Amino acid sequence: MEAKQREPPVRRLRRVRCESTASVPQFTNSPTMIVMVGLPARGKTYISKKLTRYLNWIGVTTKVFNVGQYRRDATRSYNSFEFFRPDNAEAMKIRRACAVTALKDVCDYFNRELGQVVVFDATNTTSERREVILGFAKENGYKVFFVESICDDPEIIAENIKQVKLSSPDYVDCDKEEAVADFLKRIECYKLTYVPLDDNKDRNLSYIKIFNVGSRYLVNRVQDHIQSRIVYYLMNIHVTPRSIYLCRHGESELNLVGRIGGDSGLSPRGAKFASALGVYMRGQCISDLKVWTSHMKRTIQTAEALGVQYEQWKALNEIDAGVCEDMTYEEIQENYPEEFALRDQDKYRYRYPKGESYEDLVQRLEPVIMELERQENVLVICHQAVMRCLLAYFLDKSANELPYLKCPLHTVLKLTPVAYGCKVESVFLHIEAVNTHRDKPENVDVDRDPAEALETVPDHI
Ligand SMILES: *[C@@H]1O[C@H](CO)[C@@H](O)[C@H](O)[C@H]1NC(C)=O
Ligand SMILES: *[C@@H]1O[C@H](CO)[C@@H](O)[C@H](O)[C@H]1NC(C)=O
Repeated sequence: MEAKQREPPVRRLRRVRCESTASVPQFTNSPTMIVMVGLPARGKTYISKKLTRYLNWIGVTTKVFNVGQYRRDATRSYNSFEFFRPDNAEAMKIRRACAVTALKDVCDYFNRELGQVVVFDATNTTSERREVILGFAKENGYKVFFVESICDDPEIIAENIKQVKLSSPDYVDCDKEEAVADFLKRIECYKLTYVPLDDNKDRNLSYIKIFNVGSRYLVNRVQDHIQSRIVYYLMNIHVTPRSIYLCRHGESELNLVGRIGGDSGLSPRGAKFASALGVYMRGQCISDLKVWTSHMKRTIQTAEALGVQYEQWKALNEIDAGVCEDMTYEEIQENYPEEFALRDQDKYRYRYPKGESYEDLVQRLEPVIMELERQENVLVICHQAVMRCLLAYFLDKSANELPYLKCPLHTVLKLTPVAYGCKVESVFLHIEAVNTHRDKPENVDVDRDPAEALETVPDHI
């Protein structure tokens, strides 16, 4: 396979061997603005943040610009919905100025920070406002994709107000009931001028309309690969409460002796963990729990102990360490000292000879993430590197942090979506296990001493 071929090693300090393997075309000259449209409390900020997290995880540099935040930074004068009345000229001036500042920052992000996508989180409920954005984008050569969230179910709106709006900085020292009343009036102000995207008038624009948090969609004129990925993602996410449980297999025979990769079975303590996991999951009382494993023995043996049906995913297999499979870190240092140093220099992009990088792994795991978004309660029994990639998605960790996330053996991470993020509970099941976490050593130069290279290797037999 062409993508896996590597040139022979050349001795050089800090050599970067990391042609990007991202499966997303790297567009340099035509960045995209995703523009949110819809009344307040329609989940626009939720969608903006979630979409941004996803795009960054798949390797598309993305940032949210929240116009409401600019307004809050510009004026402390918000004291009631009156601010949002269309006939409040003073406030309108402030809001227009904020939008201009936000657009200027969008330019900076694309030009100076090499951003690829911007999510413009604002209400933009009038066609005039949208014209301004379209004009701005055209002038600068940006593509525009609108995401409109339409919701007429009062229960969904009330829930959204309760979940996220009441903790908004606008309402810090306010009575809850008054805050809800004020917020509903604020929505009424926007309704006076709100014009939804129009099937006919806006037929040349690219957009997705999402009705009642995904009960129906309307997609119009998708222009390119990235817009199609965005549409696919938005059509798979849901807001039904649920939890995702992530853990590794029980301690394996190879873990015990400090060898990486391979396909060994569980150690006696690993088998104990498998039973403990069964007890823990039964205690969660979930009737529709899905259990997923990789194709590797150690995850399958772990799942077997649960006594429930499970699905095997090849995509969940551990990172392929290529020529280093089955080796201890000491052996890697002895046989491939340069490779070992290169990996420490850029652990996310470093690809093992004849193996994979973390970046490759993220691409391989994308279908798993998409299916996790579609599902409700799922237990994923996987591997250290795989778990780091999944966790980075849910906790919005950068590519640099990702390969060093702590995912100890015999510990379940329970992830529960809340407001704009994820609550994490870390549950150690009280079965001892070896430590397999190796921190980045201080010296990452290819000519370092073996002792320096091995300084952070965890203890093993
Ligand atoms: C988008 O909507 C926000 C919030 O209403 C508004 O302040 C801003 O002016 C709009 N953007 C543009 C470019 O008109
Ligand atoms: C859509 O684009 C076509 C072709 O460029 C143009 O003739 C038409 O007037 C446009 N329609 C609208 C509503 O802007």
